[in-house]
Amino acid sequence: MAAFTIAVAKGRTADQSILLLDSMGITFQQLTSSSRKLIFYNSDETITLIFVKGVDVPTYVEKGAADLGIVGKDNILESQAEIYEVLDLKFGKCKFAVAGKPGQVLDTMQPLIIATKYPTIARNYFSRKGKSIDIVKLNGSVELAPLIGLADVIVDIVETGNTLRENGLIILEEVEPISTRLIVNKASFALKSQAIHSFIQEVQKNLV
Ligand code: PRP
Ligand code: MG
Repeated sequence: MAAFTIAVAKGRTADQSILLLDSMGITFQQLTSSSRKLIFYNSDETITLIFVKGVDVPTYVEKGAADLGIVGKDNILESQAEIYEVLDLKFGKCKFAVAGKPGQVLDTMQPLIIATKYPTIARNYFSRKGKSIDIVKLNGSVELAPLIGLADVIVDIVETGNTLRENGLIILEEVEPISTRLIVNKASFALKSQAIHSFIQEVQKNLV
């Protein structure tokens, strides 16, 4: 069967992604929790695992540097990459929301100023509503922006809601639910069809 490469998002969902592969009998000998290594091979070297930033997983898969990817829907939507999204893995569940200070009005005459790590998602959401906005692109700690007057609201991921609560912000509108997905490179889907289809089937059997 054809060998393939799978890109796994580093960070919060990495452990669950590795557990899923483990439950399918796919293990990587050198993979330990303290390792800083980024590339691993299974025992018969038919599967290569690479760890990349979640935001980069769709790029690796779109360009064919990886045949498959395990990554959050947030990063898939933001990238607009041309890939196949084949399975909802049902972990890493959270949601996109517009959040701000209590009483913040969204229906303003002036364009709303929105701080976000996800400019594409924010732009698409507000353009569907016909609302003009200005984006302030940040790379993290976006909850600070409405507190110190950098933006009116944020568009960000909410999981437990703790970050919002601890910073005195509330959800103003829910945008959409997010979870981890399995994605496939379009050419690989055809060229490595047998290997990829049996991998997808095995994933399906091992979803909890
Ligand atoms: C993410 C996200 C929210 C928070 C949501 O931030 O951007 O801030 O987690 O989780 P919660 O609802 O459980 O609090 P992250 O911790 O990844 O840090 P960053 O935004 O600074 O990158
Ligand atoms: Mg954050």
